[in-house]
Amino acid sequence: MSQTDSTREHLIETYRKKAKHYDITSQFYPAPGYPQRAHRLRAVQALGLRPGDTVVDIACGTGLNFSLIEQVIGPDGRIVGVDLTDAMLAQAQHRVETNGWSNISLVQADAAEFDFPAEVDAILSTYALSQVPECAEVIAHGAAALSGRGRWVVLDLKVPEKTPGWVAQLGTATVRPFASIDEWIARRPWAAIRAAMQEELADFSWTELFFGTAFLAAGSRRHDQQDPQPGR
Ligand SMILES: C[S@@+](CC[C@H](N)C(=O)[O-])C[C@H]1O[C@@H](n2cnc3c(N)ncnc32)[C@H](O)[C@@H]1O
Repeated sequence: MSQTDSTREHLIETYRKKAKHYDITSQFYPAPGYPQRAHRLRAVQALGLRPGDTVVDIACGTGLNFSLIEQVIGPDGRIVGVDLTDAMLAQAQHRVETNGWSNISLVQADAAEFDFPAEVDAILSTYALSQVPECAEVIAHGAAALSGRGRWVVLDLKVPEKTPGWVAQLGTATVRPFASIDEWIARRPWAAIRAAMQEELADFSWTELFFGTAFLAAGSRRHDQQDPQPGR
């Protein structure tokens, strides 16, 4: 098994163990006092949704964003939730059934291999994209699938600038279910996400949250982007 495959297996195993209680434990994520729900709401607002929109939620987990999205898109809209971990998707499915939503489809896939539907009005990823080594590719694939007024929004964690290495390691170790925290810090995925969004999108904005431990990044489809291939 390659290093990438074993890291992915470890991640799936970790989230299988977390799935059942994720909705409760995640309230204290990444640390008690962190305004996670308020930031989620900001992220959904940054999508600029309208009734009837199609939204892809990348690494949707148990679907904690779904109700916020549903409130705006309504029954004529559509959500596609994508996640790697079967147990997280099972919780998402339970949420969908409990709420009687008939406009949500769930796809078990690696975000890096997911084939975005054409003409997506919005793509969201919360607290997840930095865990995907190919995050820049995911942003590029998504950007190419956006509709004319489509928006891409990422909410995720980062290490504040000028933080001594050992502090970053300690802080991150408490919140990150990774095989290697060192690898995550060294890889600086937030910087890769920022660079890719700047490259692929127009009207790019970057907001640091909670003392630089999180960020909200957003952008719109570039006007010089070619229309997605019909039938994609
Ligand atoms: C911290 S949870 C966040 C879930 C949800 N987005 C939220 O805001 O609550 C991270 C999720 O990312 C998923 N994930 C990690 N790597 C992934 C990948 N390469 N492709 C798809 N999903 C992935 C995990 O299975 C997990 O459900």
